[in-house]
Amino acid sequence: MSLWGGRFTKVSHVKFKKFNNSLNIDYRLIKDDIKSSIAWSKILTDIKILTDKEQKLIEKTLNWILNQYSNDINVILTSDAEDIHSWIETMLINKIGDLGKKIYTGRSRNEQIATNLKLWCKRKSKIILEKIIKLQCIFLNQAYLQQDTIIPGYTHLQQAQPITFSYWCIAYIEMLERDRLRILDLMKYLNLSPLGSGAIAGTSWNIDRKKLALLMGFSDCTNNALDSVSDRDFIVDILSAASISMMHLSRFSEDLIFYSSGEVNFIELSDSITSGSSLMPQKKNPDILELIRGKCSGVYGSLCSILILLKGLPLSYNKDFQEDKKYLFQGLDVWEECLDIVYIVMNNIHLNKKRAKKLAQEGYSNATELADYLVKKGISFRDAHHISGNIVVEAIRQNKYIEELDLFIFKKYCSIIEKDVYQCLTLESCLEKKDVIGGVSKRQVKNSLDFIRERLSRLKS
Ligand code: ARG
Repeated sequence: MSLWGGRFTKVSHVKFKKFNNSLNIDYRLIKDDIKSSIAWSKILTDIKILTDKEQKLIEKTLNWILNQYSNDINVILTSDAEDIHSWIETMLINKIGDLGKKIYTGRSRNEQIATNLKLWCKRKSKIILEKIIKLQCIFLNQAYLQQDTIIPGYTHLQQAQPITFSYWCIAYIEMLERDRLRILDLMKYLNLSPLGSGAIAGTSWNIDRKKLALLMGFSDCTNNALDSVSDRDFIVDILSAASISMMHLSRFSEDLIFYSSGEVNFIELSDSITSGSSLMPQKKNPDILELIRGKCSGVYGSLCSILILLKGLPLSYNKDFQEDKKYLFQGLDVWEECLDIVYIVMNNIHLNKKRAKKLAQEGYSNATELADYLVKKGISFRDAHHISGNIVVEAIRQNKYIEELDLFIFKKYCSIIEKDVYQCLTLESCLEKKDVIGGVSKRQVKNSLDFIRERLSRLKS
């Protein structure tokens, strides 16, 4: 029988019942529902609905239900309960009889689901935060090891300026850091408890909502019941954070797909994370990276779906909300899995340093250095840019690197060029000159790495 059967004289249509039930999705909230129910039972002792002894028995039984069934989902799924709330209540009544029927005093499922979802998001956020930190650590390790590995830096997918692999890793550490901070930002909303809001306008029982919030690990309670039971902003927030982070992971994937492509080919993915073609024996494909890139779309889909779900909904609770869990769970599961996968990828790449350096040397990526050299000799940057461009054309014509041109050729384009030009055109010099905060010089990269290491060790301690 359903929770609300009293008012009804006919049983539910089978198809309606199946359509209406959400247990097959919200069973994942068992831990959160039990946590909030235990807190609620404690509050029921304050208002003398339960004695201390009764509360203890309810708490013990709820914990027993959790331990017994949280790893045995099939038992839950084969029940015909409408949702996880009613399943737990039925189990409680089955176990302790009429006493179990008191747990819903003054409490609505509307506030309960909002509370449970926040508790779930808080738990999931903690897991994701840890995974982000772990991922930052693996990028940092690689970055320490690859400080001398020069790779080509690209704009428009054209070789632009040389960088180091270490420097590339730092770029992703910074993206991940913003992902981490974004979660911490949204935590302030997750930390407000809706419980005690009743169905819509607050509960008629004189309870201490702040105490109730603290019992569940929230920092405070929400301010307006009408809003609290219909607020799902926090799902939009967390899916936005997931979407932005997935965008970072998909860009990481794209970088590595490109770096490991047959044409660029300075990174090799280990056999253990690549797959072959059923037809072409020579193939070794970066499916793992393409899947991260592809799965990003599902997370964006979840974000769009929740925004569309909420758009234009009247206050306060509407059953439309029941659909929110599907998007929330799916989006965050994919995010979590992709963080794990990127970690595995970073542990399974091999750098072909020779090839990377050769590519960095190609593409006339030291042309800006030549222009800067001319500026130092007193020429305006615009003119220097033009002269350097002309020299690049000459080098292309001769099928040489800029630094392979004879001095007299340089002089043909600008007489003030001297022998010292060759020193400034080396890859090492291109890197070392970028010695500003955030630049690619060895000193700056080392500073960044030490700074990040410090930041991470503070987080881990
Ligand atoms: N399964 C519902 C949900 O996910 C729980 C709340 C039901 N409340 C109600 N008044 N029908 O939103």
